[in-house]
Amino acid sequence: MIRSVVRGIGSALPRRIMTNADFEGIVDTSDEWIVQRTGIRQRHIAGDDETTASLGEAAARAALGNAGLTVDDIDLILVATSTPNNTFPATAVDIQNRLGMRHGFAFDMQAVCSGFVYAITTADLYIRGGLAKRVLVIGAETFSRILDWTDRSTCVLFGDGAGALVLEASEGEGTIADRGILASSLRSDGAHKDKLYVDGGPGTSGKVGHLRMEGREVFKHAVGMITDVIEAAYAGAGVTSDDIDWFVPHQANKRIIDASAKKLGIAEEKVVTTVHLHGNTSAASVPLALSVAVADGRIKKGDLVLLEAMGGGFTWGAVILRW
Ligand code: ACO
Repeated sequence: MIRSVVRGIGSALPRRIMTNADFEGIVDTSDEWIVQRTGIRQRHIAGDDETTASLGEAAARAALGNAGLTVDDIDLILVATSTPNNTFPATAVDIQNRLGMRHGFAFDMQAVCSGFVYAITTADLYIRGGLAKRVLVIGAETFSRILDWTDRSTCVLFGDGAGALVLEASEGEGTIADRGILASSLRSDGAHKDKLYVDGGPGTSGKVGHLRMEGREVFKHAVGMITDVIEAAYAGAGVTSDDIDWFVPHQANKRIIDASAKKLGIAEEKVVTTVHLHGNTSAASVPLALSVAVADGRIKKGDLVLLEAMGGGFTWGAVILRW
């Protein structure tokens, strides 16, 4: 049985760090309000020379280095992003070109903050379907470029960055103890599309537009949707919360993360939280959090890892993998 196994991981963050205190001269807010409501203390913001494609390229190079591979070994590049460099071509082909890769194929996926969970699930299907042996799965965003910097209810929440995994085909028994992706569960419901959206685009205003969010409405739905889709992934993998070594949720808000872990019965020590460092980096948040927990030695080969995300659409999903 073919499984998709993580071979390498990497990440990249813009040079500039913006703290909560840095917002105090821009909008009517405070460090205390931001920390209390969200857990965010700082975020990285892209400079003029930093783009979704350049951050994605840097994360991809780091993941390839970590895997001990080159682009020659990759068949497919999948980029999860809602902030592509251009409307088209896909940021994935831009990154393919930056990496000097002249074979294989590359495309973008757009599921907002759930993008990485959607992309890793898609990569797994390409691998198990035999269309690719090794896939670079990248989550890369520059949300700072779609924020309304006069709207205090949204501009303090987001940050920029990128994370990447190399997934590769591995032949094995396919037991619960074997490494690789064990199960995924994806959902969306467009009835919620106006609760979190960008008020522009090529098909509407012709301009890029700004992020708009009914924060309280998103909050109200988040924990229920997240825990439902995780229960579905548990059923697919044949595991429960007791089996999980590390819970790596989408990093939007510490209160949502804590409430989801509590509802699932996952101990606080097993939850990887980076929202205080990165803010909400949308499709980059899960691979960035994974990178931190792998680099500091928490996540080790053989650990059972639960990934989860929820975002605009709404979209939501969960993945269970043996690292
Ligand atoms: N500083 C100070 N005050 C603020 C700020 C700020 N930055 N932002 C809003 N406020 C004020 C509001 O104006 C309001 O004031 P009022 O009572 O005088 O009207 C008050 O704070 C409370 O506002 P709420 O929106 O009710 O605050 P809430 O407790 O809901 O927190 C938050 C807001 C943090 C956005 C929360 O609703 C949340 O986290 N929602 C979920 C967001 C999320 O998880 N998104 C994930 C998906 S992201 C994606 O897919 C791209």
